[in-house]
Amino acid sequence: MNAANLKLQPKKTFPKEVFLNGEWINPENAFVSVFDRGFLLGDGIYEVTPFYDGKPFRLKDHLARLQYCLNEIQIEFDAFSLQEIMLEAVSRSGFFQNDCAVYIQITRGVAPRTHFSPEQIQSTVLLYAFPVVLNGFENKQASVLVSEDLRWHRCDIKSISLLANIKANNESHRLGLDENLLVRDGFFTEGSHSSIFFLKEHRIYTHPEGPHILSGITRKVILGMCREMDLEISEKALHIDELKEVDEVFLTGTTTQILSVKSILLNEKEIFSRPSTGEITQQLQEAFLKLTRSLS
Ligand code: PDD
Repeated sequence: MNAANLKLQPKKTFPKEVFLNGEWINPENAFVSVFDRGFLLGDGIYEVTPFYDGKPFRLKDHLARLQYCLNEIQIEFDAFSLQEIMLEAVSRSGFFQNDCAVYIQITRGVAPRTHFSPEQIQSTVLLYAFPVVLNGFENKQASVLVSEDLRWHRCDIKSISLLANIKANNESHRLGLDENLLVRDGFFTEGSHSSIFFLKEHRIYTHPEGPHILSGITRKVILGMCREMDLEISEKALHIDELKEVDEVFLTGTTTQILSVKSILLNEKEIFSRPSTGEITQQLQEAFLKLTRSLS
């Protein structure tokens, strides 16, 4: 997108400033080379950190995941060097008393196009704060679509290459639905941009960490809350055929919070229906609200 196109977009959809390669810049003047490997090859990773009432939530966990991803794709960069800049992004943005999030994207940098990674190039670092709605999730319920999980086998890396997630989410969006439940070899993995939890026979189920899901930071917080509530937990993938024995389904994530699922569709047929939010989902939502709204 060039500067002229950017001006045509509604102003409020863009932050007024971005941090690009060490400088705070008006986005209309922020440019990345067409030879950036993020642009040409999707060679990069990203992170989204929530700020409740302007206060960061699990900042260290988000930075640790960013560092993990950088290490996995061998980009030499100290993720924790961005900690102060994240806080600065929020205070400069004017959202410092509101709910917002910080987006970070790091690509390998600019180089002539090759399939192997060139050595010793300067990575491209983009960071900005943007407003998000982090409240009211307890009053909502989602309708979701079962989609085949077409992603690669390293979903633990928060890659900027999101084609398979976008393809799935386009299908649900076109049907007026909220999210996808991705299925690999008959087992639920996660959403296109959220983690999935099931309650079945008084036990919480969620896919184990590993190469087929992103290790969600919210997922980890929810598992901690489940333990505190003495709920039985199985970090075990649930088969689609087991859905008929499931009592509650909810999604979790930075931009999703804890969202109750009321309806699941497969090939235009409803295969799960719960008109109201389940009791355990409600209890977790209450506990999560307490946790996120009492940040000092
Ligand atoms: N998405 N799984 C996937 C595939 C995700 O993209 C996300 C988050 C999650 C939840 O992770 P966390 O609890 O750490 O946010 C699970 C971010 C918010 C995004 O792509 O915008």
